[in-house]
This record gives sequence, structure tokens and C-alpha cells, in this order.
Amino acid sequence: MSRDIFGSRFGALVAMAGSAVGLGNLWRFPYLVGENGGAAFIIVYVILSFMICLPIFISEFVVGRRSQKNAYAAFRDLSGGSAWRWVGLFTVIVPLVVLSYYCVIGGWSIDYFLKALTFSFTGSESQSAMNTMFNDLVTSVWTPLICHTGFLLATVLIVMVGIKDGIEKFSKIMMPVLFFIVISIAIYSVTLPGAKAGLDYLFNPDFSKIDAKACAAALGQAFFSLSLGFGTIMTYASYVDKKENALFQSTATAASDLTFALIAGIAIMPAVFAFGINPQSGPGLVFETLPYVFGQMPAGGFVAILFFLALLVAALTSSISMLEVAVAFLVEEKGMSRIAACMLLFVVCLVIGALCSLSFGPLSDFKIAGRTIFDFFDHLSSNILMTLGSLLTVLFVGWRLKKTDVYDEFTNGGTLSRNAKLFGVLWFLIRYVCPLAIIAIFISGLIG
Ligand code: PHE
Repeated sequence: MSRDIFGSRFGALVAMAGSAVGLGNLWRFPYLVGENGGAAFIIVYVILSFMICLPIFISEFVVGRRSQKNAYAAFRDLSGGSAWRWVGLFTVIVPLVVLSYYCVIGGWSIDYFLKALTFSFTGSESQSAMNTMFNDLVTSVWTPLICHTGFLLATVLIVMVGIKDGIEKFSKIMMPVLFFIVISIAIYSVTLPGAKAGLDYLFNPDFSKIDAKACAAALGQAFFSLSLGFGTIMTYASYVDKKENALFQSTATAASDLTFALIAGIAIMPAVFAFGINPQSGPGLVFETLPYVFGQMPAGGFVAILFFLALLVAALTSSISMLEVAVAFLVEEKGMSRIAACMLLFVVCLVIGALCSLSFGPLSDFKIAGRTIFDFFDHLSSNILMTLGSLLTVLFVGWRLKKTDVYDEFTNGGTLSRNAKLFGVLWFLIRYVCPLAIIAIFISGLIG
């Protein structure tokens, strides 16, 4: 049976951008920027994104499209069956762990979207009422579990339909909607009285805040945001037509991800500051601060509906990319049908996700290395496994693959002259700069 591939350049691009644009852009980037020196942090973030993350992205792209296989087989076949295949297996398993807790947050987004539809935030509730509302949700048993199941089911159903008709079609419709919503909220947000304080928070440069810790935070965020080190970009790239340009696809994805993150910042921070609130990061920002802000702002009920819809869509286009990594593996290596693979993974993620979900309530006393199950998975995957996956991928491409093969894949057999000219720089970055920078920043972040 021939492999399904993306039907168009735009389709491949929006699918990759869909994977990249997710919760990371909406709830972490704006806060990280504000807390770590505004425009100064953005400059560091852009430099690291393009000097380190882009070469890693291209490395994943090259491995995926060269092999046209799932991540495990890609490592195995391109290394002539060596032990590198275990790295492949690692990149198949890790996204499942992330997916399990990502779906819990996806479930909360469903709950909040439904709350928004019934205008639950409208009125003059206090900030502490919003904190209680969120706390009540996450510590309860059934509502988060049901919403989590719903989110996971949606993810599984889209992936089950396939690459072209499922993932690509969904992304093609939803990504423009997502950009449209966030741009609209940004425009509205900057027109609120007092919005300027939020823009100052985001964009006033403060270079004194740029230290090793800020650089480590920027790099970690860029990895997460670009979906690197998890086999997702590799798997998606394996469905990209051989005619497409690796450099263009990679740069365009990185640029859309960055643009979206900046627009998200402009949508969120001015509104938060307009109501005199101190921003938080993560779930607190999205599920506590913002609902309060929506409750205060004119027409906030409608803005809330749009915002939670955007959150849901952003999370879904990312979760489908995580699931596809393992689906491709089961279908191609274990001979399962796509439907059977999806059903099996549904059960696996349901069980792990349920444990994550319950770790806010009944299982909150159960700790692994001092953290709840949810925090443990989150910390492990985004701080350690993702960096490790990215490091191993660049080492694989830079030191294990043949230079001529990488050149061939990057330049489409020498036919793309601009790529051919840039190859020398790319090769140097992949071989030396990326591995050293990842190790240095990782270590200094640990010490700092
Ligand atoms: N990039 C996604 C985000 O910003 C998260 C993600 C990580 C998606 C890894 C796929 C793989 O939320």
C-alpha cells in the first residue's frame, strides 16, 4: 500500500505550523517575554530560534523526508540498522507521554469553551472567584476526565481519517481561523484604555535581564514551541512531497510560529494590564487571569468564546501531530491498520492522561521525585527529553549520516541553488554549533 502524503505545499505548511502553534505560544511565550527583558528577550529568542532551532528543524525534516518512514524506521534505515534505531524508538514514545498530559489541558479548554458559551465569566466576579472556579474544575474527578476523553477522541478521530483527508484538511481550515481570531483579539486588546502598559511589558527592552537562565528559558521555549526533539516534525516531513523545499518549509513554519506567539502576546498582555492585573504564566494565565479580564471588558463574553475556541484549536492541531508519530510507527512496523493503531493509542493515552488528570485531585499526594504525576511528566518531557531528542537528532544528522546524502536531501538533488549555497553554513551549524550550544545552555540553565 502506498503511503499517504500531504496533498499540497500549503497543506504541509499549515500542518507543520499547526503542530508548532499550540499552548506554548499562548500561555508561556507572552509571559516569558515580559518577565525576561521584553524586546531584549525577543531578540535572544529570534537568534536562538534561527541559529539553533532552525538547523534542528531542518535536520528532522531531512531525516523524515529522506527515509519516507516513521521516526523509528527512519533512524534504523538511515543508519544501516545500527543502535540509532533506539533513538528512533525514543522519539516515538516521548510524544505519547506529552500527548497524555496535553490532552488533559485540552480537556480543560473544552470545559472553559463551554463555560464561555454560557457567558459564565460575564459580570463582576473577583479574581479569586476565577481561581476557585479553576481549582474546582481541576480537583474534581469526572468533569476533567470526561472533557479529557472528549479532547482525546477528537484527536484520534482526525488522525484516523489519515494524512491528506484528516490532518491536512483539519489544519487547512482551522489554522487560518486560528490566526484570524487571535489577530482580531489583538486589535481589540490594544484599543482598550490602559493597554499601553501591556505593550511596554512585552516590548520595552531590558538587556540586564539576559543571563544564562534567560537564554536557557528561551531555548527551551523555542524547542517546545517548534515541536522539536519529539519525532513530530520528522514524521510530518516523511509525508512531504520530494519536490518541496526543505529550507522554505522549515523557515516558513518557524516564522509562522514566532509571528503567532507575538500576536498572542499582543492579544493577551495589553488586556491583562488594562485591568491592572499582574500576569501569570501557564494554566493560571489562561484559566484564571483571562476569564477575570473577559468578565470585566466590554463584549468580553464574546471575546472569551473566541479565545477559548482558539485555545482548543491550537491544542488540537498540536495533539494530532503528537499522535501521528506513534500511529505511523504501529501501522508501518507492527502491521496494524490505522484504525486499530488509533484505538490502541486512544486507550493508552486515556489511561496515562487519566492519571495526570487525577493528580490534581484524588491522586495529588502521589509523588514521583517530589512532583505530582502531571508535573513530573511535564517537567521531564519539556525540560529533559525534548533537549535530549533534539541533541541526538542533530548528532545523528551531523555525524552519522553521509554529508552527500544530507546535501542531496536539502537541495533536492542539487537542483535548489540557494539551498546549495547555504549548505556549508547549515552543515557547520548542525555539526558543531547546535550540539555545543544545546549542551552549554542546558548545563548553564541547570546551574544558573
Ligand atoms: N509546539 C506545541 C506547542 O507550542 C507543543 C508540541 C510539542 C507539539 C511537541 C508537538 C510536539 O504547544
